[in-house]
Amino acid sequence: MSDTWNAVDAYLAETVIKPDPSYKAVYDASVVAGLPDIAVSAAEGKQLHLMAKMSGARRILEIGTLGGYSTLWLARALPPDGKLITLEYSPKHAEVARANLAKAGVGNRVEVKVGAALDTLPALQGPFDFFFIDANKDGYPDYFRWAVKLSRPGSVIVADNMVRQGTVTDAASSDPAVQGVRHMLDAVAAEPRVEASVIQTVGSRGYDGYLVAVVTG
Ligand code: SAH
Ligand code: DHB
Ligand code: MG
Repeated sequence: MSDTWNAVDAYLAETVIKPDPSYKAVYDASVVAGLPDIAVSAAEGKQLHLMAKMSGARRILEIGTLGGYSTLWLARALPPDGKLITLEYSPKHAEVARANLAKAGVGNRVEVKVGAALDTLPALQGPFDFFFIDANKDGYPDYFRWAVKLSRPGSVIVADNMVRQGTVTDAASSDPAVQGVRHMLDAVAAEPRVEASVIQTVGSRGYDGYLVAVVTG
């Protein structure tokens, strides 16, 4: 199936998604710098952009920057006076991202904070309107709790890689990423201030899915 999924992603990129060349520039520079090839696809990036716009986000928090590919999609959804903070553990990834985002013209709207997210989150001042969680999966339960803490009613929380080729249903999994995602889903289910769904996806990044949640209270 993956040939079909790739072909459809390529077709959609040429038709409705139409990323301007700066997105490919960020992606290519990240790969050339030796960063892992795990950014969201163009279709997912555009979807993030649209969700941020639909929510009217003025302040966005991203956890997991890599080379700034998803960051650029989100930053371009902001109004001119909007602001995005993105948290990245690796100083090398952060440096590549800063250069990429400056070149793409959003350097003034984006702040890349280096360190383990659990160390940098406590210093942040909420509320944020939109969250994108995409860092180490064993941290997802904590990142979700932090997002709720830094939210306001109406804030949107999106999290990547929630389905993991269907392994998310394996309660006995020894994969810490699977357990991280499962424990986050337990935390979401137990949080009365949040309504959520997970959409399964296929495409150039294989079979996965993302969580969308809204803070209601
Ligand atoms: N959102 C990016 C991809 C992020 S990949 C995109 O779609 O373009 C995950 C990133 O999370 C990696 O860069 C990794 O270094 C970072 N990361 C891993 N552990 C982390 C932690 N504890 N705190 C912050 N970032 C972390
Ligand atoms: C990995 C991380 C991601 O955020 C992703 O979208 C795909 C893969 C990983 O750590 O392998
Ligand atoms: Mg991801």
